[in-house]
Amino acid sequence: MIIDNLHEHLCELGDRQLFFVVDSAVRQKCFELSPCITPENTYILEAQESNKTLQIVQQIWDFLLEKQATRNSVLVNIGGGIVCDIGGFCASTYMRGMTYINVPTTLLAMVDAANGGKTGFNYKGIKNCVGVIQMPLQVWHYIPFLETLPRQELLSGWAEMLKHALLFSANEWERVTHAMQNLTNLDKYTFASLVEQSCWIKERYVQDDVADNGMRKALNFGHTVGHAVEEWQLSLGKTIPHGFAVMYGMVAELFLSVEKKHFPQTIFEQLKEVWATYYKTLPITPADYETIIAWTHKDKKNTQTDRINCTLLADFSRPYVNQIVTEKELKLAMENW
Ligand SMILES: NC(=O)c1ccc[n+]([C@@H]2O[C@H](COP(=O)([O-])OP(=O)(O)OC[C@H]3O[C@@H](n4cnc5c(N)ncnc54)[C@H](O)[C@@H]3O)[C@@H](O)[C@H]2O)c1
Repeated sequence: MIIDNLHEHLCELGDRQLFFVVDSAVRQKCFELSPCITPENTYILEAQESNKTLQIVQQIWDFLLEKQATRNSVLVNIGGGIVCDIGGFCASTYMRGMTYINVPTTLLAMVDAANGGKTGFNYKGIKNCVGVIQMPLQVWHYIPFLETLPRQELLSGWAEMLKHALLFSANEWERVTHAMQNLTNLDKYTFASLVEQSCWIKERYVQDDVADNGMRKALNFGHTVGHAVEEWQLSLGKTIPHGFAVMYGMVAELFLSVEKKHFPQTIFEQLKEVWATYYKTLPITPADYETIIAWTHKDKKNTQTDRINCTLLADFSRPYVNQIVTEKELKLAMENW
């Protein structure tokens, strides 16, 4: 839901006790936006993938216990995907589950991470290895948060909007790729409209399969290889914005979609051009392919450890989930990078 006034919406929660997990990048802004948010009821999280850990989860549980939060309290997560994932997990498990609300502050969290109820943290180097699916009470999109978002983070979120466009229609693809050419000058109404449409597309896939056993897996398009790239970078002590890793994944998995499902070649070429213009930042050599493939074997989507499971597309809005691809095919796909 797009909102204009965060404070008013917090007040509408009545006399329920409020607690906040707030991204350190927006801390000051949050204190200015609402007197309900105070240093006493707020846990500040420095959002880095290396902080998406059990230790931080424990610190938030401890914070809630110390402040005597009850099951009737509400935890409001204000931040990017890291804050929403960790805060959502803490709320979903504290006292067997307290209500939580997500207020995403990055484009990626607005169109993806804050919606759909997937929560969790990284464990033993595996992304989102431990987590639960528990829906937030509400998701509030306050578009002015995007004003301070670095261009790189805008691009990261844009990758998930491109994914949603591929999962929906040629018109949406055209709209999202066109708007991208004017990325840093978009007004808040255009952003609001793009965010709403992208969330609506995700919602279509989530609503009938919240537990992620069927068509929701279509949303994993680009993520088998994308997560492997992200985990590989993490294992080297480096980070890459989530959406950038997903773009590497989408180039590989859309190539396989052309080969195996006859997805239109022209759209693949357009995606590849967008990737080369905005997202191609990693010095990957053929020697790295084996390492990345090794990481794909740890993917949560695999049902057997020796198989690599991807979502492939036959066309816009025509995903095939649970598609097995071989290492040889993946290597061929990576040669597009
Ligand atoms: N649960 C899901 O369904 C889902 C879906 C996609 C991604 N994710 C997860 O989301 C995470 C990535 O989320 P993200 O891309 O939002 O990254 P993030 O949470 O790391 O935020 C990116 C950076 O932007 C900063 N930031 C946040 N809001 C800002 C603002 N308004 N102005 C300036 N800086 C701001 C943060 O401090 C951080 O440095 C990953 O951990 C990924 O696994 C989850």
